[in-house]
Amino acid sequence: MLKNIVVIGAGSMGNGIAHVFAQHQFSVTLTDVSATQLETAKNTIARNLARGVKKERLTEAEAAAILAGIQYTTDASTAYKNADLVIEAVSEDEALKKMIFKQLDVSCKENCILASNTSSIAIHQLAAATTRPERVIGMHFFNPVPVMPLVEIIQGDATATEVVHTIQNLTQVIGKTGVLARDVSGFVANRILLPMLNEAIGTLDQGVSDVTGIDTVMKLGMGHPMGPLELADFIGLDVCLSILEVLYTSLGEAHYKPQPLLKRLVAKGHLGKKSGRGFYDYAGEDKVALQSF
Ligand code: 3HC
Repeated sequence: MLKNIVVIGAGSMGNGIAHVFAQHQFSVTLTDVSATQLETAKNTIARNLARGVKKERLTEAEAAAILAGIQYTTDASTAYKNADLVIEAVSEDEALKKMIFKQLDVSCKENCILASNTSSIAIHQLAAATTRPERVIGMHFFNPVPVMPLVEIIQGDATATEVVHTIQNLTQVIGKTGVLARDVSGFVANRILLPMLNEAIGTLDQGVSDVTGIDTVMKLGMGHPMGPLELADFIGLDVCLSILEVLYTSLGEAHYKPQPLLKRLVAKGHLGKKSGRGFYDYAGEDKVALQSF
């Protein structure tokens, strides 16, 4: 029976994962190296819960209980010892993730499951940093985590079947649908999504249409809830770039080669919604499509 969950990394994925587990009565510890990031995460979770209260989907008392179910700490050593499941959700940096898995292997009890929310790195590579690859698995959530009903579950070549079953059941318990994917970089979702986002950026850079035009085509023509450029901003342009780099290196297909415009924007610190500017400007109440980059 899994009870104590530790989520590592308090960015948009980490805070959403913590929110969802707390909402389903798990005891959650959210940890990050940055106290400021933890504070931001706490405020984001409170804001998202308040939104639910306003829409009468939960009561104020329920929202308060969910908030109280999450501990925030920059030192998770005690939480690691008691954890039944740790979900790593730090940035898409293989060396950093491997370092964390090595540390978890030392700190966590023997039967603790070590999961990664990696969006592109093969699970067996992370599992190799531990002495318990049979207890390492991928749990790939989607942003915004409280809303998107999918978890890709990735079985590494050594992941025990029992661990896969436990995570499949857990995924149901937290109200999500799990889809099992083979351990090939990018799995299903990002292998298919990222070339579309990359192509939209190339289409913009070639002047085929502008930001509004490209996003409108995909929304009205294809029924997507967000256009690809708004979605890239929403995911984070730095995250998109990291995923494309992993996919290009490991799969070698030309459509994963990051577009020069994406690299330029990331180099300028224009990372999308979280930095206030990407393909859109988010400074005002309504986002504004940009005309030059
Ligand atoms: N937390 C909690 N609830 C949220 C939320 C958040 N961060 N953001 C939105 N919501 C809720 C709203 O309260 C609202 O709830 P209601 O239906 O009960 O009223 C509902 O979601 C819809 O929100 P809004 O009315 O504000 O806005 P939209 O109808 O425009 O929907 C959206 C927003 C759900 C984000 C929609 O635009 C969408 O589905 N976009 C695409 C998202 C997507 O593709 N995500 C996957 C990205 S890829 C990824 O994450 C993988 C990674 O590896 C790259």
